[in-house]
Amino acid sequence: AQNAKESLYIVSQFAAAFFVKQLWETDEGKSIGLSYFKERGFREDILKKFEVGYSPDVWDAMTQSAIREGHKLEFLEQTGLSIKNDNGKIYDRFRGRVMFPIHNFTGRVIGFGGRTLKTDKNVPKYVNSPESEIYHKSNVLYGLFHAKKAIRDLDNCYLAEGYADVLSVHQAGIENVVASSGTSLTVEQIKLIGRFTQNVTILFDGDAAGIKASLRGLDMILEEGLNVKIVSFPDGHDPDSYMHHVGAGAFKTYIEDNRKDFILYKANVLLKEAGNDPIKRAGIIRDIVESIAKIPDPIKASVFIRESSSLLQIEESILLSELNKMRSAKS
Ligand code: CTP
Ligand code: MN
Ligand code: MN
Ligand code: MN
Ligand code: MN
Repeated sequence: AQNAKESLYIVSQFAAAFFVKQLWETDEGKSIGLSYFKERGFREDILKKFEVGYSPDVWDAMTQSAIREGHKLEFLEQTGLSIKNDNGKIYDRFRGRVMFPIHNFTGRVIGFGGRTLKTDKNVPKYVNSPESEIYHKSNVLYGLFHAKKAIRDLDNCYLAEGYADVLSVHQAGIENVVASSGTSLTVEQIKLIGRFTQNVTILFDGDAAGIKASLRGLDMILEEGLNVKIVSFPDGHDPDSYMHHVGAGAFKTYIEDNRKDFILYKANVLLKEAGNDPIKRAGIIRDIVESIAKIPDPIKASVFIRESSSLLQIEESILLSELNKMRSAKS
């Protein structure tokens, strides 16, 4: 019901404010959380804009504080902020982590991502809010509330993987950026972008997982009828690390100069994978035409067929007949 949902928004907002206060006003928060963000190179205005916080490293500080303020345990549990163990003991989901509140696109807090400060490989890097009545992670884009105006004005949406990427790209002065965060890109997320622009530029991590996610993501974006470009980062870098590595100005120039359309991007990635193997190289052509076949608009598709023809040095008619075969197989 509407009222139950409202109660979940209210406890989520309470928790967000609690974590912010911990970060800026307590000794533990300042010495551990704030210094962590500073060491990573984040500016204070960016930390404040995204309302990041810190969850103290004790069992139930947030839950106790919420109860004292009159919030009901029932709602804290329904958001996953508080957890009851088998013995009936209540504890905080987020402890000793830096906190990224997740807003829906109207600006209400609906969930959290909490990053560990430990380098121990056995500790999960991020803990996220579970699905709840107000948080459906496959329908959410991290950062959309702060980005939506810029996305409309600039008619482009940069799409990154993670929380830190969104903050760092903002810090470089680029505000039209969101992240799929904690989930592989979904159709719902693409449709959400489509409400603000038809143009997406993927900024995924420059590792094997990021490349794989880019190839999958670009096909999904094409299938939704949106236009897609891709910027790749030198191996090991993600937008966050690269921004801090080269600085804001150089980062901005880099992403403007290194946008590739999906044909060029796929050709580069696949040619690298194929090496000199002639059979694999032939497979690339089919693979690229497969992506083109996902584009609903036949006029757009024919433009990309022409581009592929000149890039791959293959007769346009051959590519077209491949395309038609794939289209008729699909329908
Ligand atoms: N993620 C997650 N749970 C994990 C790892 C990742 O939910 N155990 C999500 C987070 O939203 C994260 C995103 O996937 O931001 C991308 O993951 P990754 O590239 O591993 O993390 P970074 O965002 O680069 O995190 P950081 O820079 O803080 O190391
Ligand atoms: Mn619901
Ligand atoms: Mn990654
Ligand atoms: Mn990353
Ligand atoms: Mn990172």
